[in-house]
Amino acid sequence: MLITHVDIDGFRNLSNISFVPDTRYNIIVGANAQGKTNLLEALWIMSGCKSFRGSKERDYIALDKSRFTSEMKIRDIVREQKITFEMTKGANITKNITINGVKQKGTRNLFDVFKCIAFIPDDVEIIKGAPEKRRNFIDMAASQLNPVFVAHITKNNAVMNQRNALLKSIMQGGSDSSILEIWDKQAAHEGALISYMRDGYVKKINEICGELYYAISGGSEKLELEYRSNVYKPEDFSEPCGEAAFEKYYRKLRESAEYDIRTGITHSGVNRDELIIKINGISAKEYGSQGQIKSAALVIKLAQAEIFMKRSKEAPVIFLDDVMGELDENRQRFIFDIIKDMQVFITTPNESALLPDIKGKILRISGGRLTEEKADE
Ligand SMILES: Nc1ncnc2c1ncn2[C@@H]1O[C@H](COP(=O)(O)OP(=O)(O)O)[C@@H](O)[C@H]1O
Ligand SMILES: [Mg+2]
Repeated sequence: MLITHVDIDGFRNLSNISFVPDTRYNIIVGANAQGKTNLLEALWIMSGCKSFRGSKERDYIALDKSRFTSEMKIRDIVREQKITFEMTKGANITKNITINGVKQKGTRNLFDVFKCIAFIPDDVEIIKGAPEKRRNFIDMAASQLNPVFVAHITKNNAVMNQRNALLKSIMQGGSDSSILEIWDKQAAHEGALISYMRDGYVKKINEICGELYYAISGGSEKLELEYRSNVYKPEDFSEPCGEAAFEKYYRKLRESAEYDIRTGITHSGVNRDELIIKINGISAKEYGSQGQIKSAALVIKLAQAEIFMKRSKEAPVIFLDDVMGELDENRQRFIFDIIKDMQVFITTPNESALLPDIKGKILRISGGRLTEEKADE
């Protein structure tokens, strides 16, 4: 998958950006606070995902403007497609998105058109952060492989919101507790499917992470990922997800219903699950060194790219934000070897920090404006 054309204006400090990316390396160079990450972020949101910085949509629009516009062409094995994304700031934020000229209701279909993976310094949060960070990572990575998954996540979130609202209402005497069973049936259905899909994805990524981490650590360390469900035992996942799985999930919800009503929140199910990440058999979150955590985060993302590539026969576009400069030559080589068939956008304050054989289009950015040059061959 390739980005073949980009136009962006009014996104944060970016002004009148227009370029044809290199099919391999695009090196975004600039001093601090000039708009390097903004450029990656503007490209990233065209995939329908929320900002990798966790920013609010309102902040996307330049402070001195009332809207931003962007247009991107994406070529995959089948065809070239055009996405336009426009956001206007008023009392509310309004979005106007088209794919191949067809107006879209929301961002959802973007996810099918444009697949990308971003490596950012914040990725260490996958290891160090709250369990939700890890759940979100699996959900996003698994959705990229199988967009059906997004529908289950969305449905489950809606059902959980309803269930939690109902719990509070029952607690306050406003609703009858028998209604809860109806929601629990639905929650069990979505929850079981999500548990099984997550476990399946974690098994896949675990296999690849194991190999990659072994290699990146010079054959001395072992990285393991394991999905820990609070409903199912690991052996439950050896059977496909069916009636028995729905029933088990449903029973778990029913068992904790009384406690849930008293406290007003759901205590079991997929929103409480964990992804356990271990290095040499012990928790990376608790005991990992900074270097181990960084390498593990990097390896997990590389594994995501590799799985996607194998499965869809299509390479995702790779964004590397400020991660290369800190890595030694061996690690840089290791990464570039894995992403060698992918289109890459790399930000760096200084292109000399990159391996000398990383040549491509240099995109210099200053004050949100771009000048391009072709690197010396
Ligand atoms: N909504 C906005 N409107 C205008 N400028 C913004 C907005 N959001 C961020 N910026 C500016 O963008 C710059 C930071 O850009 P960034 O891409 O993070 O820099 P870097 O090149 O270091 O990656 C800062 O100068 C900041 O003031
Ligand atoms: Mg930056």
